[in-house]
Amino acid sequence: MNKILVTGGAGYIGSHTVVELQQNGFEVIIVDNLSNSLIEVLDNIHSITGIKPHFEQFDLADPRLTADFFTRHTDLSGIIHFAAYKAVGESMEKPLGYYRNNLMSLINLLEGMKLHGINNIVFSSSCTVYGQPDELPVTENAPFKPAFSAYGNTKQMCEDILKFTVNAHPVKAIALRYFNPIGAHPSALIGELPLGIPNNLVPYITQTGIGKREYLRVFGNDYPTPDGTAIRDYIHVVDLAQAHVVALRRLIEGRSKTNPEVFNLGTGNGFSVMQIIEAFERVSGLKLNYRIVDRRAGDIEQVWADTGYANNELGWKAERTLDEMMASAWRWEMALEGR
Ligand code: UD1
Repeated sequence: MNKILVTGGAGYIGSHTVVELQQNGFEVIIVDNLSNSLIEVLDNIHSITGIKPHFEQFDLADPRLTADFFTRHTDLSGIIHFAAYKAVGESMEKPLGYYRNNLMSLINLLEGMKLHGINNIVFSSSCTVYGQPDELPVTENAPFKPAFSAYGNTKQMCEDILKFTVNAHPVKAIALRYFNPIGAHPSALIGELPLGIPNNLVPYITQTGIGKREYLRVFGNDYPTPDGTAIRDYIHVVDLAQAHVVALRRLIEGRSKTNPEVFNLGTGNGFSVMQIIEAFERVSGLKLNYRIVDRRAGDIEQVWADTGYANNELGWKAERTLDEMMASAWRWEMALEGR
């Protein structure tokens, strides 16, 4: 059996990936410090798959604890590394916390891999590494732009760390650059669990729809886009999770063409904030209360993925539609509220 360490496996993308891994016959060990997730997620994974993953709670940025973990788990086939801080705004207020957590966790994992001969790692990167790209759709070959946030900078630096480490040690890496993951598992047992006021668009919309927030602020309608609101490439979290299983197999079976290998994970379609609101209204039957306000500092105007390389090389394609994404996000919000 292939034993896989999933860091941050109690989190949003992590939990969906654990489900897909288990359903594909992998044995999963989750390490999570629960700084932005809840222990109950493990029971919900169990309810979906019938398997409770092995779980350890500690901080991967602590070198001693991480080294100790590897002495107890020497038979890992690979690692999928999600554990990281991810709030763009917060990263501007606490940059050192972001650099410490996001960089140290990766470094400690790579040290453990080196020492114990664990060769495969899938890394959670982000389309934020591209900034506002010069050409759309953006391909994996587009250059990194100066980062808009400390968070984005940690993703760029982590990709650089991987690049130099795989040259020096027998480590193989795939960096997956996510566009905007949204939606929830069809069971409505796992989904995004923002603590406090959500930063991201879709949880803010569903919380407004359910009555937890008064209105959505639409950040700017004066962008040079067809309806003036900003455009992103939204991807269903289950499609995203499935890409991790494919990438992991590619590493384990030695099919990578470069090292590290980098893939965009998006649908290739851009949707504006207004189109997301319309999709929500369509699937929920509600009218969403929203107001147009100023642009949010640090936001880019538009980005969507060129998915050709991922589709051809991984043999993976995001399949779920925008309405499926929004309907699953809404079912999840209703399940959270017990409706
Ligand atoms: C950003 C990062 C992404 C990161 C994510 C984590 C980029 C291109 N993307 O996503 O890498 O993982 O943050 O949080 O840097 N919006 C509103 N009202 C709201 C919330 C959002 O109008 O209340 C708009 C935003 O202005 C944006 C869109 O909705 O145009 C999506 O925003 P959000 O969900 O926060 O994601 P990004 O900022 O694209």
